Amino acid sequence: QPLVGLVGWRGMVGSVLMDRMQAEGDFGLIEPVFFSTSNAGGKAPAQAKNEPTLKDAFDIGQLARCDVILTAQGGDYTSEVYPKLRAAGWNGHWIDAASTLRMKDDAVIVLDPVNSPVIKNALSKGGRNWIGGNCTVSCMLMGVGALYKAGLVEWMTSMTYQAASGGGAQHMRELLTQFGTLNAEVRALLDDPRSAILEIDRKILGKQQSLSAAETQNFGVPLGGSLIPWIDKDLGDGMSREEWKGGAETNKILGQGPGFSAPAVPVDGFCVRVGAMRCHSQALTFKLRKDVPLADIEAMIAADNAWVKVVPNTREATLAGLTPVAVTGTLDIPVGRLRKLAMGPEYLGAFTIGDQLLWGAAEPLRRMLRILLD
Ligand code: HSE
Repeated sequence: QPLVGLVGWRGMVGSVLMDRMQAEGDFGLIEPVFFSTSNAGGKAPAQAKNEPTLKDAFDIGQLARCDVILTAQGGDYTSEVYPKLRAAGWNGHWIDAASTLRMKDDAVIVLDPVNSPVIKNALSKGGRNWIGGNCTVSCMLMGVGALYKAGLVEWMTSMTYQAASGGGAQHMRELLTQFGTLNAEVRALLDDPRSAILEIDRKILGKQQSLSAAETQNFGVPLGGSLIPWIDKDLGDGMSREEWKGGAETNKILGQGPGFSAPAVPVDGFCVRVGAMRCHSQALTFKLRKDVPLADIEAMIAADNAWVKVVPNTREATLAGLTPVAVTGTLDIPVGRLRKLAMGPEYLGAFTIGDQLLWGAAEPLRRMLRILLD
C-alpha cells in the first residue's frame, strides 16, 4: 500500500479531514505515516498500521519516504518544508490545503466534481502538486459550476457572507465569547419584557465599542452583532486578497485564463465576514451569454453533481434549506434564490451555501488522494 504522510491532522481542517477519510474507508487503501510538528516519537492515532509512532514533520528524510504527502498544517509549514523536499529530489505527490502553492504553474487547484478534466490532464503530464482551493471559491463552484461548464457565464459578481471558521479555530471561539459578553451585558433587561429596546441597543453598542483587546484579538474589531467587509490582506489596489482569489482561483480551477488557451471570465465582488460559524454563503449575480429559461438553468445546476441541491425560490423552502445552520456538517451544496433579475433576461441571481471545512477544505483533498490511488 502507498505510504501517505499526514501532516496537520490534529488541527481543525485536519480533524475534519481525518473524520471524512475514516468515513470513506480511505485508511483501508493506504499505509498512513503520521507526522507531528511538536510531538515526534509520540503515539500515532488508531488508524496507524505499521508506522505506530509520530514522525518529525520537519524531517525531510522521513517525509521523502512517502509516496504522497497530505498536509493541512498551513502555509508557513508549506513554505518551509515543500522547497526543501523537492530540492532533496522527492518526486511524490504533494496534496495541500494552504494557499502557498495554489497559483504556481505546476500546481492544480483540485475540485474534481468541477475540474476533473484539468486534473486528469495535469496527471498525464506528470503533475505532482495538488492544492485545495479557497473555501468560498470551492463551495461556489460546487453549486454553480454547471453554468461555467456550459460556457454560459459572461461575468459573475459575488457578495460573500463568510463564517468565523475561515479565520481558524480561535476566530470561532472569539465570536462566541463576544456573543456571550454582549448577552451578559443586557441579560437582566432581556429578562424584563417591559424594558426598552433602545436602552438594550445602547448598552450593546457601548459594550461592542469597549470590548477588551483580548476579546477582539483575532478579528481586530467586534464581529458579534456586526460584520467586517474585509477578509485577508490589503493588496493596496482597493482589493482584498480574498476578493482577488475569487477571480484568480475560479478561473484557474476551470482551466482558463493565464497559462490556459481559454480566456478568463471576469469574477469580482466583495468578501464579508459575518457571525456564522462554519458555512460560507454567497449572493451571486451572473451576466449570462444568452437568455436561458430559468427551468433549464435549475435543471442544469441540479444535474451537475451529487451534492448540489436546487432550493425552490420560495420563502418557506429558503428558510428550511438555505441557511448555514441547515447546511453545517453536511456535504450538501444548496443553491437557491434563483431568479432572473430586473436588469434583463440574461441577468441571473442565485444564493449558495457550503460548509467551508468540508467542500471548502477537507473534501477536495481526500478526493484527490483517491484519484491518485485509482
Ligand atoms: N480565506 C478563507 C476565509 C479561508 O478567511 O474565510 C479559507 O480559504
